[in-house]
Amino acid sequence: MFCFLSSFVFLALVPSVLGQSYLEGLVQTLNANGLTQLASIGTSLNGTTIGQQVLAALPEGNKTLFAPTNAALSALDPAVAGNQNLLSDIIAYHVVSGNFVNQSETYPNVTIGRTLLNDSALVMLEGGKAQVLPWSKAANGSMFALNGGSNVTISNMTTYNNTEILIIDSVLMPPPNMTTILGNASYELTSLSSILQSTALTGGGSSILNALTSAHGITVFAPNNAAIAAAQSTLSGLASNTTALTAVLVNHIINGTSVYSPEIRANQSLVSAGGEQYSFTNNATGLFVSSGGSSPVQIVQSDVLVSNGVIHIVNGVLVDTSANPGAASSAYASATSIAAQTVAETGPVGASPTSTGSSGGSSGGAVMNGAPNPVILGVVAMLAVGQML
Ligand SMILES: *[C@@H]1O[C@H](CO)[C@@H](O)[C@H](O)[C@H]1NC(C)=O
Ligand SMILES: *[C@@H]1O[C@H](CO)[C@@H](O)[C@H](O)[C@H]1NC(C)=O
Ligand SMILES: *[C@@H]1O[C@H](CO)[C@@H](O)[C@H](O)[C@H]1NC(C)=O
Ligand SMILES: *[C@@H]1O[C@H](CO)[C@@H](O)[C@H](O)[C@H]1NC(C)=O
Ligand SMILES: *[C@@H]1O[C@H](CO)[C@@H](O)[C@H](O)[C@H]1NC(C)=O
Ligand SMILES: *[C@@H]1O[C@H](CO)[C@@H](O)[C@H](O)[C@H]1NC(C)=O
Ligand SMILES: *[C@@H]1O[C@H](CO)[C@@H](O)[C@H](O)[C@H]1NC(C)=O
Ligand SMILES: *[C@@H]1O[C@H](CO)[C@@H](O)[C@H](O)[C@H]1NC(C)=O
Ligand SMILES: *[C@@H]1O[C@H](CO)[C@@H](O)[C@H](O)[C@H]1NC(C)=O
Ligand SMILES: *[C@@H]1O[C@H](CO)[C@@H](O)[C@H](O)[C@H]1NC(C)=O
Ligand SMILES: *[C@@H]1O[C@H](CO)[C@@H](O)[C@H](O)[C@H]1NC(C)=O
Ligand SMILES: *[C@@H]1O[C@H](CO)[C@@H](O)[C@H](O)[C@H]1NC(C)=O
Repeated sequence: MFCFLSSFVFLALVPSVLGQSYLEGLVQTLNANGLTQLASIGTSLNGTTIGQQVLAALPEGNKTLFAPTNAALSALDPAVAGNQNLLSDIIAYHVVSGNFVNQSETYPNVTIGRTLLNDSALVMLEGGKAQVLPWSKAANGSMFALNGGSNVTISNMTTYNNTEILIIDSVLMPPPNMTTILGNASYELTSLSSILQSTALTGGGSSILNALTSAHGITVFAPNNAAIAAAQSTLSGLASNTTALTAVLVNHIINGTSVYSPEIRANQSLVSAGGEQYSFTNNATGLFVSSGGSSPVQIVQSDVLVSNGVIHIVNGVLVDTSANPGAASSAYASATSIAAQTVAETGPVGASPTSTGSSGGSSGGAVMNGAPNPVILGVVAMLAVGQML
């Protein structure tokens, strides 16, 4: 009751400039839930251009705000917390367009949302798209965001106007670049990283690793260290034939598009950067991928995000030495032209239309249907009264 009363009083004192009253209302809600540090960052966002864009975007359409607790924000590196631009980018990464938390998938499946983080210093996705954020629901119903390989617990939820607020116990950090992730020992992809660093694309030029890191939209089926070790004799046999080795490597890559796990399913037609057709099988063991005529390998960890795409870790090497340059360039051209069509994504990214029961599709346009949220209506009514006072 106290917080309702104080918000009436507060709103009555604030000039009823639309944007400002929205922010003040949001700040009230955050403070009322103990999220005082986030509230204070919110009021200082107007100090940067990126922050101003976030503030302008927040009241538009439905939003989901992942709201770190005071403890989480206090643990932030002071060099990050003191960098207003970086902090604005980080906050942008905590806001998802749309409100589809009620459609969350059960782990190991994930729901993926498009955030507001589109700063080209940190994100290089196809078509200038903003970075995505995956989350999931445990078997016991508790929800968590997936960030840099760890689970970030969602401890509680509340609502302000158009924004569902999910309280989280860690700050979500924007994904690093491909070179950083492949070189990070904890992902066990360092053998692949070495091979990609010492092999050039057909036609010469820089290493495949550089080509991957500088791409705008890329998907990698990345064999882990154990997979590379198990395929060592095959790979050594190919070492003298760079054409074949390069073909094998680029048949682990989709060029020009980021394909997240919800889009990977049986019958999905995807073509590698070597021009080979992928096929996918889902069975009791898990999800398998093969390239051309290769043996299938299992995806053991999906949706490892990077600044310019996504990695799915696999437990074997796709031994496909074939190449079809024509098919590769037409797949790239098609991916690029699809990405250039700007579609506002306010539903789960890549969700199949049938699984959401809504008009989703790969553009992720699904929106929640149904009765108006009583909490939102309550807050709207409360604000209306508050502004009349
Ligand atoms: C809350 O949302 C409604 C639309 O649902 C909008 O008309 C209203 O201005 C919003 N309130 C504030 C304070 O922005
Ligand atoms: C940001 O907003 C606060 C009030 O909410 C105001 O005092 C401050 O001058 C603004 N800063 C900028 C840079 O606009
Ligand atoms: C926002 O979500 C509500 C349900 O929570 C839905 O009725 C409404 O259409 C959505 N608005 C937009 C702009 O997507
Ligand atoms: C999500 O589901 C809960 C419980 O069924 C409900 O209270 C809430 O309003 C729903 N949120 C939206 C945005 O539909
Ligand atoms: C995950 O998604 C796949 C493919 O849609 C489905 O077969 C499987 O049952 C789902 N698993 C869970 C735990 O929801
Ligand atoms: C990023 O998104 C904001 C809206 O959130 C928009 O105003 C801005 O133009 C976008 N910037 C780029 C580089 O796409
Ligand atoms: C994340 O949570 C899921 C579901 O509870 C669990 O299976 C998985 O092991 C957790 N991952 C990490 C890195 O803790
Ligand atoms: C969740 O928030 C509600 C209302 O803000 C509060 O009553 C409840 O105690 C909170 N639950 C937890 C587990 O913090
Ligand atoms: C990748 O990120 C690291 C850490 O931010 C940076 O030092 C490095 O220059 C980046 N590499 C490329 C190729 O952009
Ligand atoms: C090298 O591999 C390519 C493609 O796999 C194959 O066509 C070619 O015959 C191989 N060359 C040699 C010398 O084995
Ligand atoms: C992706 O396609 C473009 C255009 O054909 C090409 O320049 C680039 O080298 C390709 N990248 C990879 C990793 O195959
Ligand atoms: C699932 O498919 C893979 C690849 O075809 C196969 O190796 C595995 O034995 C299958 N598992 C089951 C339980 O059928």
